Amino acid sequence: MRIQFLLLTILLLSLQCNTSPVSGSRKVTNIRFYLHNTHSVNDPSSVLVAENKNATTHARGLVPFSSVYVFDDVLTEGPASTSKVIGNAQGMYVETGKDGYTILETIDCEMTDGPFKGSSFVMFSRNQFSNPSRELPVIGGRGAFQMAQGYGLLRTVCINCINSVNPSKGDIIEYNVTLYLH
Ligand SMILES: *[C@@H]1O[C@H](CO)[C@@H](O)[C@H](O)[C@H]1NC(C)=O
Ligand SMILES: *[C@@H]1O[C@H](CO)[C@@H](O)[C@H](O)[C@H]1NC(C)=O
Repeated sequence: MRIQFLLLTILLLSLQCNTSPVSGSRKVTNIRFYLHNTHSVNDPSSVLVAENKNATTHARGLVPFSSVYVFDDVLTEGPASTSKVIGNAQGMYVETGKDGYTILETIDCEMTDGPFKGSSFVMFSRNQFSNPSRELPVIGGRGAFQMAQGYGLLRTVCINCINSVNPSKGDIIEYNVTLYLH
């Protein structure tokens, strides 16, 4: 009798485990692209919209504390700015670090090519861009990325650069994004 009860309990527990909605049914997708954030005078993809001048007196860094930027950046397959465009990223970043090197970034990445065309995912977090590599969490998405979770590993290709891969002055950042989809 006791053994039967024990077996039943084990059976019920294992059934509960099997029906729990944990990640088992989720698909994992990896998307890698390069973001081009340009500061050119004629056609910048990123613009400064506000800044408290007093806040910058003691904290300069590369991006002065309190600066608010809005961006609409091209996403390409490879690091060169002439590489195939596969999407665009719209969002804002605010210099929230008094060090002048930490932004709070909100970024919506929409694919304009490939199997996820028309869908976007959103990342939101602080981003200490003075580190050569850092991580941003994926907090959701639209379309094929609905209810997405995951993380993006960011690597700086160059900051404020003008070179053969980037004729217009700006930053190139690699985004290697792992998405858990339903
Ligand atoms: C900057 O500081 C001055 C002097 O304290 C003050 O009058 C001014 O309102 C401050 N400006 C801002 C944008 O906070
Ligand atoms: C991209 O991220 C994934 C997951 O973290 C990792 O396995 C892979 O090696 C990364 N790829 C590159 C090129 O960094």
